[in-house]
Amino acid sequence: MAKPVTTFLCSACGATHKKWAGRCDACGAWNTITEETPLSQGPSGKGLGAAKGARVPLSDLRTEEAPPPRHSSQMAELDRVLGGGLVPASATLVGGDPGIGKSTLLLQAAASFARAGLKVVYVSGEEATAQVRMRAQRLGLADSSVLLAAETNLRDILTTLEAEAPDLAIIDSIQTMWLDTVDSAPGSVSQVRASAHELTTFAKRRGTSVMLVGHVTKEGQIAGPRVVEHMVDTVLYFEGERGHQFRILRSVKNRFGPADEIGVFEMTGAGLSEVANPSALFLSDREKPSPGSVVFAGIEGTRPVLVEVQALVAPSSLSQPRRAVVGWDGGRLSMILAVLEARAGITFQGLDVYLNIAGGMRINEPAADLAVAAALLSAREDAALPAETVVFGELSLSGALRPVSQAENRLKEAMKLGFSTAIAPVGCKISQDSGVTVQSMADLPRFVGEVFGAG
Ligand code: TYD
Ligand code: MG
Repeated sequence: MAKPVTTFLCSACGATHKKWAGRCDACGAWNTITEETPLSQGPSGKGLGAAKGARVPLSDLRTEEAPPPRHSSQMAELDRVLGGGLVPASATLVGGDPGIGKSTLLLQAAASFARAGLKVVYVSGEEATAQVRMRAQRLGLADSSVLLAAETNLRDILTTLEAEAPDLAIIDSIQTMWLDTVDSAPGSVSQVRASAHELTTFAKRRGTSVMLVGHVTKEGQIAGPRVVEHMVDTVLYFEGERGHQFRILRSVKNRFGPADEIGVFEMTGAGLSEVANPSALFLSDREKPSPGSVVFAGIEGTRPVLVEVQALVAPSSLSQPRRAVVGWDGGRLSMILAVLEARAGITFQGLDVYLNIAGGMRINEPAADLAVAAALLSAREDAALPAETVVFGELSLSGALRPVSQAENRLKEAMKLGFSTAIAPVGCKISQDSGVTVQSMADLPRFVGEVFGAG
């Protein structure tokens, strides 16, 4: 009999390796490779052999399919991120750091769906039912008809779900679930994958929507949510900075709607409350204009959001000056600094540079380039930008400013929040009077000259 082969799997991305290594060359994570017995060893080396399978029916693309019906969660921010509500028989993964508020969010969503008439089962593998009930009381949801269980054995859970046939089953968390058919510890890549596979196939087969909680893990003993991303229909990440009360639910994959959509919540003493107007929130603690602070008119998914970009530039005592970034990409900051130096002759040599996106927000848009450049210049020159000005635009390596999408939406949001001027690249599609005066700039030298004098 063949000896069971063990392989080495990365618990962050699920990549397979022939031997152990300190660093996964697929995703670059350190100390995440662990030894595991693979799920199944297919027929060895002979292909499928002569045995015939059944014929699969084929159809063409013309057959009309009605759009999937959706259940509204009665939470506008959650519905938006799901693409308009929960799709029956769908599988959704909700990932996030431990303690960020996933259980709180999903318990609130469960109660909300139950109030709307769905049958909801909430299975906790981490907390006892008494703990979940206590949390529900604290959230004012004690009278909800959500059915609770504290269980980690997936065979028992699936048998229960099969019998109960709920509309929605929430599994908190996928890393605590285990299948008796898989010979490795709960939380290992094999267990997490096999459990997610059982749950998603159950969802398709029985028409129950499942929502899986996945903790983002820093070390290799427990598999992260990335190893099941490809199996589910929708992947949401719950993000936020510790110490900030804002939480952002972001869709990174959605088979039923647009990705990159965000929902904004605020963590309060009585659970998460929805933030319908995030711009007002992210700008709320802004006083008068100050050097180093610039308002960026951004777009998250389909939604315009104004955020404050803050920079601090100070003389450095280090031979390698510090470059620290919170909420933005560090590589992109280096690029902006290089473009400022090469194309506008403004050097940050011998200066420490700190960049922060206010409110615990994370920006991925290249359209923030110009706002970042403006914040850096403003901090370096110790000169504030004119009040009531928003900035957006992508910066190319040549120093030219490139037009960005949805300029109109950005301007509308700026006007709504009382901004009167926008600095934007030339060539943006702006049809008529948006109520905001637009200063169009072709390139970085021009921007430096016009906004900061000679620079
Ligand atoms: P939790 O939902 O348990 O996080 P996760 O499931 O992602 O690990 O959230 C835990 C944090 O939320 C905890 O630090 C306390 C805080 N919290 C509040 O601030 N208010 C509340 O009403 C609740 C229920 C939790
Ligand atoms: Mg939890």
